[in-house]
Amino acid sequence: MNTKYEIKNPVTGKATQLDAIQGTIGPDVLNIAPLLKEQGVFTFDPGFMATASTESKITYIDGDLGMLLYRGYPVEQLAEKSSFLEVANLLIYGSLPSKQQLDAFQDSITRHTMVNEQLLRFYQGFHHDAHPMAMVSAMVASMAAFYHDSTDINDPRHREIFAHRIIAKLPTIAAAAYKHSLGQPFVYPRNDLRYCANMLNMFFAVPCEPYAIDPVAAEALDLLFILHADHEQNASTSTVRLAGSTGANPYAAISAGVSALWGPAHGGANEAVLDMLESIGSVGNIDRFLARVKDKNDNVRLMGFGHRVYKNFDPRAKIIRGMCYRVLEKLGRTDSPLFELALRLEEIALKDDYFVSRKLYQNVDFYSGIIYSALGIPRSMFTVMFAIARTAGWVAHWQEMVSDPHMRIGRPRQLYTGPTKRDYVPIDRR
Ligand code: CMC
Repeated sequence: MNTKYEIKNPVTGKATQLDAIQGTIGPDVLNIAPLLKEQGVFTFDPGFMATASTESKITYIDGDLGMLLYRGYPVEQLAEKSSFLEVANLLIYGSLPSKQQLDAFQDSITRHTMVNEQLLRFYQGFHHDAHPMAMVSAMVASMAAFYHDSTDINDPRHREIFAHRIIAKLPTIAAAAYKHSLGQPFVYPRNDLRYCANMLNMFFAVPCEPYAIDPVAAEALDLLFILHADHEQNASTSTVRLAGSTGANPYAAISAGVSALWGPAHGGANEAVLDMLESIGSVGNIDRFLARVKDKNDNVRLMGFGHRVYKNFDPRAKIIRGMCYRVLEKLGRTDSPLFELALRLEEIALKDDYFVSRKLYQNVDFYSGIIYSALGIPRSMFTVMFAIARTAGWVAHWQEMVSDPHMRIGRPRQLYTGPTKRDYVPIDRR
């Protein structure tokens, strides 16, 4: 049934009918477009707390049920049965691939992993202690300078090549950023390795001795990447959409997404969680730390807790928590003091009225950093790992938007609270 809502101007009595649009699942969405035309008013929703910025068929989240679906498939099932590249294919093309389609996709990704040699020279311009996210964002933006002649966003085949290229090259770009920070030679991609094994090799191999890829580490990364692959209209995905809506080069749009992901409220939280655990130091300091978190005058947050949408539990956190046990066990690191501290912190916070009353639960980042650490990934690279995984989602959303014949530039309005019109005052009279 098509429900209508009525908004009435209390002074003139003029009424406007707003259509409630129904999605396949989830709450109805009011089409507020007639408000400006008929009532001359905007809506105000800072932080987009109650605003659907777009229509999408890719990912669905139910924050109360703790449900996350990629193209309709529960993330728990994909985490158990699928692989990151299959999930990337699903996100981009909309349905689970046949064996043939998946083989062709994996083959194409494998064959696009090398980056132009000129691009590799750019790293020399970065200081050795540049944050890898700064380097990755710059390198992704620089790709626009290399593939501009084959990136016609109106050509579906060009869009597809872009999608494969960026997913394939992100690990190479990330590994090169890491190698630059260490002062080690870049390691070229190997086409005989699968996506995550190849990435580990590019991160950790050196020319002077053999490097044995740990299958536990490759498997754990693949699972983490599935969990991070997409999350509907989060800050970085919305940034990619907004930048892309101008018709900008897609590499530039993805670079904007990388930058948005970097912040500690978003993808930077995994790095911040480990900083936080280290600063707490030991179980005995937890109460003092939580008192600071609860003090409104102290600008401290419990990192890895809370989420804009999940108000019951984050299904990704549930999977990652279990995985954390398995990975640490397989690596013989169950005595990890940081893991112990995280478990105790979680236990105390989940019983604390401050967190309970605000519906703050562990999110995906509470444990991911501990796993990355156990795998030998340095802390400054945690958010880069998130970016590699989320590229699949960014690309899927960009594709969905650009292939929509009704695509329009994203252009929010504002509630202006600055000075009203006033006349310029010459400098000698101010
Ligand atoms: N620690 C302490 N208090 C918190 C936290 C936290 N982690 N998160 C929210 N609150 C409080 C906040 O102070 C506010 O309290 P009050 O009502 O008394 O003013 C209330 O809970 C609502 O918070 P909010 O800031 O309005 O919530 P939001 O939806 O705008 O923010 C968030 C969501 C994820 C940015 C926030 O929970 C946060 O900063 N968490 C820590 C950072 C983090 O772990 N981010 C990773 C998110 S998951 C990965 C991803 O998708 O990027």
